[in-house]
Amino acid sequence: MVERRILVTGAGGMGGVNFVRALRFAGSQVGERHFIVGTEFNPYHIEFPELDVAIRTPRHSDPGFVDALLGIIREHGIEFLHPHPSSEARVVAENRGRFDEAGVRTLLPEAGEIMPDKLHIYNRLRERGVAVPGTFHVRSTEDIREAFRELGSPLWIRHVSGAGGRLGLRVDSAEEAELWVRLNVVQGRAREGDFIIQEYLPGRDLAFDSLWFEGELVTSYARERLEYPFRHISLSGITGTPSVARTIVDGAVNEVGISAVRALSGRPHGFYSVDIKEDAGGRPVVTEVDGKWHTTAPLWGHAFARALGDPKYNLAHLYIRLGYGEGIPDVPRTDLFPEDYYLIRQMDSGVILRGRGGKWRIA
Ligand SMILES: Nc1ncnc2c1ncn2[C@@H]1O[C@H](COP(=O)(O)OP(=O)(O)O)[C@@H](O)[C@H]1O
Ligand SMILES: [Mg+2]
Repeated sequence: MVERRILVTGAGGMGGVNFVRALRFAGSQVGERHFIVGTEFNPYHIEFPELDVAIRTPRHSDPGFVDALLGIIREHGIEFLHPHPSSEARVVAENRGRFDEAGVRTLLPEAGEIMPDKLHIYNRLRERGVAVPGTFHVRSTEDIREAFRELGSPLWIRHVSGAGGRLGLRVDSAEEAELWVRLNVVQGRAREGDFIIQEYLPGRDLAFDSLWFEGELVTSYARERLEYPFRHISLSGITGTPSVARTIVDGAVNEVGISAVRALSGRPHGFYSVDIKEDAGGRPVVTEVDGKWHTTAPLWGHAFARALGDPKYNLAHLYIRLGYGEGIPDVPRTDLFPEDYYLIRQMDSGVILRGRGGKWRIA
């Protein structure tokens, strides 16, 4: 039996748990053994993933972070390193030379393609003709007024960096936007100059997830987010990762997703996520492109592999095989998953996949 020795960092986060679970399922489905070492900064969440060895590591920003990973790689004979959270993936990509020297494989985008800030994304995509919302950098209250004059109302204001819709809010007037910036600055969550304000996109909330190898698109799928958890107790209604989403098959969404990744990267390599909102006319517009895994991407792959009994759907499995330089099953470049399947999840309630032909409990 093949044995793979893999290190997953951030293994206790929701995305990391999904990734480890998908690998475990792939192992049982294709008859491979995975020896998985997981690292995690959070002292509690490290309990979640099913690991062979669990190790606490310092934060990605700690000067000892890279040395800690290299030590684990040596000690456990790790062959493939998967840094799951983007903050950690970025540090690994920045220090790629040291990991190459250690002889460990990775399948990662360039450092600059991981967690790019929203202004970089906006400028890069606009220059390359990809649809983006009209956006202003907020350096002063005058910028806010200009944005309302130019773009109309309502607008969407948010932090220029970070994930999960960080400090995002729909605002209906310059006064609201100014108060939002002021409150967040006074309370120390942000500094002056940290916000962007842009056209509010009222349409469908979409995501495009894609796996690339040496500049070529390997496979991808698109979905619509339908519900977020705890939306009624959050100001924006956007709480990071959706509790209900459904697969869609939509050529225009695929096209904009692929163009967004190509605009960000001259040679995409690894996993890339695109967030897309539709404008009032139903046109897909890109709000984010990032060389990262969306939280549920490995879960979708795992869910379909389990429900339809075919490992080709398991994105984490395809990724590991590519990372090891091995062949993968035949997969389509777009629309890997059949349309109109719902992934339904909620804290303490488990994970369900529901679609034509049935309902499956995934976790
Ligand atoms: N201009 C916008 N208008 C309306 N909603 C938006 C807009 N930009 C982002 N959102 C919502 O916020 C979510 C998070 O924004 P996104 O651009 O993906 O950045 P990040 O995930 O890095 O915080 C999006 O999925 C979308 O639901
Ligand atoms: Mg996003």
